[in-house]
Amino acid sequence: MGKYLITGVAGFIGSHTVANLLVNGHQVLGVDSLRTGKIDNLKSSQQDANFRFEQIDILNRSLLQATVTAYKPEVIIHLAAFVNVVESVENPDLNFSINVNGTHNVAEVARQSNVTRLVFASSAAIYGEPQSIPVSEESTLKPENPYGASKLAGESILLAYGRCYGMQIRCLRYFNVYGPRQNPDSPYSGVISIFLRQANSGEAVTVYGDGSQTRDFIFVEDVARANRIAAEKESCPCGSYNICTGQEHSILNLIDSINMEYGELPQPGFSHPRPGETMRSCGQPDKAAKFLDFQAETTLAKGLHKTIIDSS
Ligand code: UD1
Repeated sequence: MGKYLITGVAGFIGSHTVANLLVNGHQVLGVDSLRTGKIDNLKSSQQDANFRFEQIDILNRSLLQATVTAYKPEVIIHLAAFVNVVESVENPDLNFSINVNGTHNVAEVARQSNVTRLVFASSAAIYGEPQSIPVSEESTLKPENPYGASKLAGESILLAYGRCYGMQIRCLRYFNVYGPRQNPDSPYSGVISIFLRQANSGEAVTVYGDGSQTRDFIFVEDVARANRIAAEKESCPCGSYNICTGQEHSILNLIDSINMEYGELPQPGFSHPRPGETMRSCGQPDKAAKFLDFQAETTLAKGLHKTIIDSS
């Protein structure tokens, strides 16, 4: 069984990834600055003797280096990030600091400690407005905001480390991730977490635009499994992989699916489209299927159901 280090372990995706690794018998050291991650997200993992947590900021390279040198992981799963697109527009400095300098720190620490495999949390945000659907890994990369630019820079740094120092780099481009423990409390949280909070309290949801915009919604447990597979896999090409379902759902279609779970909810309100909004997003999942043997398994209906059950 493997010995893995996860950065950003107390975040939404990190907490599901550690749970998946532990269930599969791996040993994990998780680090997190707790800037946005929550220790509470790790409640169940902390019961497991194979898990240890340390509060470490990836910007503190010397502490990270000492920790990695002492622990000697086989793989680093680098999930720690500045995650909010809108905040990245308001505070580009912090976004680039965490996502670019932080990722460089992780790459350099890995190199110094002879960790040869690294999995990186990238994002569909690096594609920007797609020219055609579905978006494949060969599509044009044209991020529209500092967050997307920083994720593209992160991929570029890590892939250069891969080529230069012979490291195995796997960049996973997540599409719209949802599921239990996603924080619904900011107006810029994922749409599913916001809609479910509103549905739960009987409030009407607000649709930005006419609701015909589409997204490729992927359940967080599928993403956690993709992270584990990418970490475990001995041989697969270095590079970037879409982590998506290949299914396009409109926001109106999402509301119908939520209605199926809750019974009839109040009629949604409609508001102006968000500026700079992407109208359609859907990933091409074939490369991950071919080289990682990864396919999303959770339908939107099943994922919504699990999210509602787990949050109640
Ligand atoms: C998502 C990601 C972002 C990533 C981007 C591109 C989240 C939270 N954000 O942004 O990190 O960079 O994809 O891949 O996952 N909506 C409503 N009503 C609401 C909230 C949202 O109608 O109350 C609509 C939005 O206008 C949008 C859609 O729902 O059309 C999805 O919004 P959101 O969940 O914020 O994700 P993206 O904007 O796609």
